[in-house]
Amino acid sequence: MSVKPREATKKVKPYIPGKPIEELKRELGITEEILKLASNENPVGTSPKALEAIKESIGETYLYPDDECFYLKRGLSKHLGVNAENLIVGNGSVELILIASMVYLTPDDEFIMGDQSFALGKISATLMGAIFTGITEKDYTHDLNAIRDAVSEKTKIIYIDNPCNPLGTKLSRKGIEDFVNSIPDGILIILDEAYYEFVRDEDFPDSIKFVKENKNVFVLRTFSKIYGLAALRIGYGIAPPEIISTIRKARLPFNANRLGQIAALAALKDEEHIQRTLKINEEGETYITKEFDKMGIFYIPTCTNFITFKTELDGITLFAELQKRGIIVRPLKNYGIPEFIRVTIGNKHQNQRFIKTLKEILAK
Ligand SMILES: Cc1ncc(COP(=O)(O)O)c(C=O)c1O
Repeated sequence: MSVKPREATKKVKPYIPGKPIEELKRELGITEEILKLASNENPVGTSPKALEAIKESIGETYLYPDDECFYLKRGLSKHLGVNAENLIVGNGSVELILIASMVYLTPDDEFIMGDQSFALGKISATLMGAIFTGITEKDYTHDLNAIRDAVSEKTKIIYIDNPCNPLGTKLSRKGIEDFVNSIPDGILIILDEAYYEFVRDEDFPDSIKFVKENKNVFVLRTFSKIYGLAALRIGYGIAPPEIISTIRKARLPFNANRLGQIAALAALKDEEHIQRTLKINEEGETYITKEFDKMGIFYIPTCTNFITFKTELDGITLFAELQKRGIIVRPLKNYGIPEFIRVTIGNKHQNQRFIKTLKEILAK
């Protein structure tokens, strides 16, 4: 017996997440510490303020969450300088990419994004049966001119992750501004800024400004990365009210869980945790890139909490060798760059073990 899926569903290549630590322990049958440097989680851990808030509310898990996310939206409004009607909270920002695709795309509509860009865009567009156009990156960054040139009468959504995952690079303020201003009305530009808080360079777009100018822009951010709340699945979108009210039509009731909302609000105010994370990330980046330089390893300069690099070994081989030694990284074959590997910047101990293991593998 079987049930036939839609043609569009058949075409979807499922997202492959970083292997969970528990799974690798089972597979390798080892008790040694497993290093997971595959999903760009925060090596500092969860914000202590968020943990405190979770502990205080743990007994309330029998209650549904606040469907409107009133307090979290109020905190975000203050933090971002926007109104609550400009905000939508998602079960992770991935949910918001999917919902935007659901409410805007028909099989006649086109979805454009970079080839080396976060996979959820392609999955969502394919699932909706939309026309998918992937644009090759240039010098390891999104090629905005090529994306603009690809725009056709059918284009409905342009997805840009900035900084870009898996390349780790960013687009300039002027580049994005000129781009947004050049896109015709009727097209939604999703600016996915999951790694926004890690960017140190001042030359980064002020995407909230586009929202205030009522541009067709949907900005995405998340509590999974710098705030260390990946397990609680809280992401959010910022857009003009008309876009928010359209997107919320496809949002499931209670999509943002109760503990997640509470923890996110506390994490947002935990400046000490944010600064500590930034410091450890910067130190880790300096350490890893210096070691890469000494080893003659090519890497793409990053403005995020991960580094994409290649060695003389094919990416899948290196991934497998690291995994055998209890270190999980991300091979990038599915992104069309099989020679590359993406590694999350860890804490000092994790980075040292990663580099030591890498040296052992390459010396063989
Ligand atoms: C560019 C980008 N967007 C979104 C996400 C997912 O974020 P969330 O955990 O909020 O769904 C990731 C996670 O790796 C990402 O790299």
